[in-house]
Amino acid sequence: MNTIPFPDYRHRHLLGIEGLVPIEVTALLDRAEIYAQRNRSPDKFSEEMRGRTVINLFFENSTRTRTSFELAAHRLGANVINMTVGSSSVAKGETLIDTAVTLNAMHPDVLVVRHAESGAAALLAQKVNCAVINAGDGAHEHPTQALLDALTIRRRRGKLSGLEVAICGDVLHSRVARSNIHLLNVMGAHVRLVGPRPLIPSGAQELGVDVFYDMREGLKDVDVVMMLRIQMERMQGNFFPSVREYFRYFGLDREKLALAKPDALIMHPGPMNRGVEIDSDVADDFERSVIREQVEMGVAVRMAVLEILAANLDHTESTSTLEKR
Ligand code: CP
Repeated sequence: MNTIPFPDYRHRHLLGIEGLVPIEVTALLDRAEIYAQRNRSPDKFSEEMRGRTVINLFFENSTRTRTSFELAAHRLGANVINMTVGSSSVAKGETLIDTAVTLNAMHPDVLVVRHAESGAAALLAQKVNCAVINAGDGAHEHPTQALLDALTIRRRRGKLSGLEVAICGDVLHSRVARSNIHLLNVMGAHVRLVGPRPLIPSGAQELGVDVFYDMREGLKDVDVVMMLRIQMERMQGNFFPSVREYFRYFGLDREKLALAKPDALIMHPGPMNRGVEIDSDVADDFERSVIREQVEMGVAVRMAVLEILAANLDHTESTSTLEKR
């Protein structure tokens, strides 16, 4: 019988969290939970992706995402190729689509893509026959980051539903914030966006969140404080007077954290700007900060996503405009 291996997640790709339903998110998190446990055991390697090929195609810098996708694929027995754009023909002017079509001709099973433009991963998904994972596209989405954040919270609190989560800082430029808003909303948590007015997107309330421009108000009694990196590289013009001012009003320090619940989790997707959006004192608080656990869960989540997409590949419709493989 030709049954789909993971029937609760039937998409060919993972391009974003928007549009996923609770059963799909839960399927990914439950599978990741198995890998989270296995990754803490001495025997971390298996054969779920034996014979499969994963290509990491990163047009933007990355430490956590690229390394953890590579590690995840290795641990599942896949072959992994890492394309660094600086040493590829992109540096000679080859377009994103030509690069993707070229890689597609080598018959990979999964393409992991990070790109500075929103929608880049979705565009590639239409040009290749393999599964595509969005590893971050512009300020649009970073779905595996939201999944690993959710797994971290669920392991610590036993649930997502009913939690009050403050996402703080440079929301405007943050794909992490967007993916987290969609995931937390669909899983029944309540999201507050906290930051200076110029760094909160206009119309944010339409996403089903509450907005606070005063961090002391926004952190009151929350279960989770999720800090965001100030993304200077995406800013044109001045969004705040100075780093010193920013830290004073919107940097997470011991005094502001005291307004959250006494056991509130401290999260940050990394890389951190210490002394800008977060004080080292709270970032390194081993009782409250789960920042290192987020990195650990990143490997487990990426193992789950790679495995599920690869296993379902022959049971899902290609979205490609190319001829079928
Ligand atoms: N959180 C995150 O995406 O980190 P990297 O940019 O290091 O991959």
